[in-house]
Amino acid sequence: MNDFSIEVISEKYLDDIEEIEVLSYGAHHWSRDSFESEIINPASHYVVAIKDNKCVGYMGVWKIVDEAHITTLAVHPECRGQHIAQALMIAQIEECADCQIKYLTLEVRPSNTPAIKLYEKFGFNSLGVRKKYYQDNGEDAIIMWTTNILKNDYKKLYKNIKDEIFSK
Ligand SMILES: CC(C)(COP(=O)(O)OP(=O)(O)OC[C@H]1O[C@@H](n2cnc3c(N)ncnc32)[C@H](O)[C@@H]1OP(=O)(O)O)[C@@H](O)C(=O)NCCC(=O)NCCS
Repeated sequence: MNDFSIEVISEKYLDDIEEIEVLSYGAHHWSRDSFESEIINPASHYVVAIKDNKCVGYMGVWKIVDEAHITTLAVHPECRGQHIAQALMIAQIEECADCQIKYLTLEVRPSNTPAIKLYEKFGFNSLGVRKKYYQDNGEDAIIMWTTNILKNDYKKLYKNIKDEIFSK
């Protein structure tokens, strides 16, 4: 049984988000200003996971015509391994499908095994590399894409994950 809920982001969670950013990304975290701008950006959609009235995870996308670019995803270190990232992914995929978006894409560090495994579980494939994309250590970025999320095969994939995580 999951003890969290998913909501659209609001300013009241910015303190919690700042804390998770620092814990997740260290010196390279986004600023509070960045999240404030994202909240009012009409192309953005951000969702948060709430547990005991605190934000314990968040995920953002930019919607660009029929594609959505995942901008950020993080879960508080003390709450990882509890299906929160999967629930955030499902909320965003459903939102994108409602907007007739066909493809989701993102960049991820090759060293970030937990994130890559998560994206692979959601059917993302590696389709290219951006050389020396990350300025902090010059690491390349793997570019990952879904197949068409509006097709039945993909709908089946995330429905199975939804059944799996919400039946526990
Ligand atoms: C990546 C991250 C968001 C996963 O959050 P989470 O809530 O722990 O993930 P979930 O519990 O929903 O797990 C989902 C899946 O992710 C993968 N995964 C998560 N943690 C993993 C780990 N430590 N090792 C391997 N796979 C892992 C698995 O495929 C898992 O599915 P499974 O339970 O069926 O094996 C979290 O580790 C995080 O915040 N990391 C720091 C920020 C970051 O790197 N964000 C991604 C930037 S591209």
